Amino acid sequence: MLPTPCRIVAIEVDNYRTKTFIFDARLEAAPGQFVMAWLPRFDEKPFSLVNADPVTLMITAVGPFTRLVHELQVGDRLWLRGAFGHGFCAFPEQRRPALVGGGYGVAPLLWLARQQLAEGAQVTVIVGARTQADLLYIDRFERVSDSTSPGALTIRVTTEDGSRGQPGRVLDALTPLIERGEVDGVYACGPHGMLQAVEAVAQRASLPCQCSWEAYMRCAIGICGACEHAGKVLCLDGPVLAAQRSFGASSHCASPL
Ligand SMILES: Cc1cc2nc3c(=O)[nH]c(=O)nc-3n(C[C@H](O)[C@H](O)[C@H](O)COP(=O)(O)OP(=O)(O)OC[C@H]3O[C@@H](n4cnc5c(N)ncnc54)[C@H](O)[C@@H]3O)c2cc1C
Ligand code: FES
Repeated sequence: MLPTPCRIVAIEVDNYRTKTFIFDARLEAAPGQFVMAWLPRFDEKPFSLVNADPVTLMITAVGPFTRLVHELQVGDRLWLRGAFGHGFCAFPEQRRPALVGGGYGVAPLLWLARQQLAEGAQVTVIVGARTQADLLYIDRFERVSDSTSPGALTIRVTTEDGSRGQPGRVLDALTPLIERGEVDGVYACGPHGMLQAVEAVAQRASLPCQCSWEAYMRCAIGICGACEHAGKVLCLDGPVLAAQRSFGASSHCASPL
């Protein structure tokens, strides 16, 4: 799959180091899948799809590539290829999912929440960050649950410094919900340490759990091996992996939502 030049039609500033870019392109894709974004003669990096129609990416400036993307303006082009990987898949019978996002890990969860709400689910979104200034997409989650969606959305916010919401980490908000039996499935995206902890707490309660894992990616088509994680090639088998006990022998989500 070759990179296609896509024009930026809108840019929204989300926080001091994160912007959302909307492109004049659409893709067939599911929440949790990703694209490779290329700046010719510079580099190519993976980003989760915030939306596929139109293609929307949330990009946090953490290094050379993302800082350069932040300099692009409406009308400029970024070359995209994808969508790649396996996204989140539906847990049959799960009507009270918790969606847990740490940092820019919230990127694929907005679309997932929208789908689950349309199916009538009682969705709890937990958004965590170090400080209030680092929080992302709270306002978008607030807007996603409109009066026409049959489901209901509850938003919980955690910050490590206590500047907004519950002081602490996403796990501090998730664990009591699980202990009180208020959620029946967990979907998460964020840093590895957070995902390992979320997976452990979900598995202790025998809840199905799917996590979107980050890895260094180069080819995105299963050839180079750059994205190997726990015996999986994440660009093909992931980035969303189901915890082993969620699907018996199966460890990746084979079917989109
Ligand atoms: C499937 C997938 C989806 C992603 N979705 C998003 C998204 O929606 N929005 C977003 O802003 N970013 C996302 N990323 C992360 C993004 O691709 C990286 O942050 C990218 O490397 C940034 O490039 P850079 O040159 O700006 O910074 P780099 O110099 O590449 O990285 C900056 C810092 O982040 C660390 N880092 C970079 N990539 C990784 C990694 N994979 N694992 C651990 N540490 C890493 C580096 O060690 C370095 O310290 C995603 C990554 C994957 C694999
Ligand atoms: S990025 Fe090359 S095998 Fe996954």
